[in-house]
Amino acid sequence: MSAPVLFFVDELAEGVSAEQRFHQADPDAPHINVMDLSVTRGDGIFETAGAQHGILMAIDAHLARFAHSAAMLDLPKPRLDVWQAAIEAAVAAHEPADLLSAKFIMTRGIEGTGVPVGWVYVFEGDEHDGEREHGISAVTLDRGYRHDVAKTSPWLLQGAKTLSYAVNKAVLREAARRGADDVIFISSDGFVLEGPTSSVILLIDGRFVTPSTDQGILAGTTQADAFAVLESLGHETEYREVAADELGRVDGLWMLSSTRCAAPVRELDGHAVPIAREITDQLNDALLVRTK
Ligand SMILES: Cc1ncc(COP(=O)(O)O)c(C=O)c1O
Repeated sequence: MSAPVLFFVDELAEGVSAEQRFHQADPDAPHINVMDLSVTRGDGIFETAGAQHGILMAIDAHLARFAHSAAMLDLPKPRLDVWQAAIEAAVAAHEPADLLSAKFIMTRGIEGTGVPVGWVYVFEGDEHDGEREHGISAVTLDRGYRHDVAKTSPWLLQGAKTLSYAVNKAVLREAARRGADDVIFISSDGFVLEGPTSSVILLIDGRFVTPSTDQGILAGTTQADAFAVLESLGHETEYREVAADELGRVDGLWMLSSTRCAAPVRELDGHAVPIAREITDQLNDALLVRTK
């Protein structure tokens, strides 16, 4: 495994001035203050973009979602030009690799300062070839919020990509206890939402459907790219509310995220789900070479 690369972003938000825009740092050295609000409260935002052969994937969409998360958390507006330059520099500083993950983080900073802290960490992530090839098993779990939570209770930050991912990790342990690899969240009123680190696409009634993103879920960058691929192949796509019982009659089901691309679900809640092999391969062939 090659060495990760760390860049701190100095001029990371509008109104926060710094002498330089970003700088490289030792990824093995301690850097974060114990009173940083990301450490003490999980208070901050992040994104993970894929970089294939040194080229960042869907970076505009990741930066837009980063800014959206910042706005939802009332964080200072990130200077996206500086972030993009820092991310590109960090990827370029990494030893060449087929697939890298570029994780970028902005925290609310050290308690009492009001000055955010930000960095980019580039590393070789896990392999996902097996998942793409053989599929995954998933279970549905209740997220405990209604599908309209983003409208009724925006302070719950559903739909922001915050650093508070303890729940997203806990549900994977629950999945493992149930003998499965991953989770599809269902709203408390019975609508399909997303995975803890992925978006969901269903093939149902001859069209490709994903839950509309006004239901307190993330707008998936990979799902958006997948829809563009499917449309270019002449398929119909749709964003809409998806009732949980529709999962029982799909002709294909995928969980998608930036470095995983499209992993077909082969089993859901103990029942076999058909793997649409040809379309899965077409999707991954396209997602694994798309550059923007
Ligand atoms: C909750 C959640 N939904 C969806 C996604 C998929 O987003 P993307 O395709 O942009 O990686 C992620 C990615 O980590 C996620 O954490």
